[in-house]
Amino acid sequence: MTYDVTRDRVEDYFDRTATKTWERLTSDAPVSGIRATVRAGRDRMRAVMLGQLPKDLSGQRVLDAGCGTGAMAVELAERGAEVVAVDIAPELIKIAETRCPRHLRSRIAFQAGDMLDSELGRFDHAVAMDSMIYYDRPTLVQLLKANESRIGGKFVFTLAPRTPLLMAMFRVGKLFPQSDRSPVMIPQRALDLASDLRIAGANGRLAQVERVTSGFYISECLRFGGQP
Ligand SMILES: C[S@@+](CC[C@H](N)C(=O)[O-])C[C@H]1O[C@@H](n2cnc3c(N)ncnc32)[C@H](O)[C@@H]1O
Repeated sequence: MTYDVTRDRVEDYFDRTATKTWERLTSDAPVSGIRATVRAGRDRMRAVMLGQLPKDLSGQRVLDAGCGTGAMAVELAERGAEVVAVDIAPELIKIAETRCPRHLRSRIAFQAGDMLDSELGRFDHAVAMDSMIYYDRPTLVQLLKANESRIGGKFVFTLAPRTPLLMAMFRVGKLFPQSDRSPVMIPQRALDLASDLRIAGANGRLAQVERVTSGFYISECLRFGGQP
């Protein structure tokens, strides 16, 4: 599936089918046991990803690619970053704007649109938490290469690792609303992605940072480019 087709499915899903589920999962509202483990895992992953970036981001321009309801963008702005928070689902951007604390509003530019839009400009760093998990390997190579020229420092992102446990969970678990047009998460082997990036002539190196497993949430933090 091409980048555009997957992205349009993702937009349809998060802007319509799963908006309410996602709004609740990313809020403080009580959720069922399985979703609580996902929420805990995602909180942990956000911390792991932030741990890859300098504590003081004052004056740095940071992209939150696929920001969803905006939790990561808020944390980045709290560290002093000038954040561009972009998401293909306008409904999630509306929620993110409403949730953004008043004192950070001038530091986060929320925008509905494509994370690859060249008009977003250049960045010191970028993060993409669970927003690239639906793209296949050739598309990820294309996406990471396209980012090389516009991100000066680190690109910290997550992918679903290709583990037997996760593959089994896919077969049995229906955690979120599904339809024929729902985007499908594509588990990846980091080593295969790194090899394809080298073959494609990417300058940056791909590094595996940490895997987070919490109930139904299994995700791997990776870093592309920048100094460790
Ligand atoms: C699983 S959610 C994660 C949201 C947020 N990063 C978080 O961790 O809470 C994936 C998000 O990525 C967004 N997304 C996926 N592909 C995108 C693209 N090409 N451009 C912009 N946003 C995208 C989706 O709309 C969705 O909000």
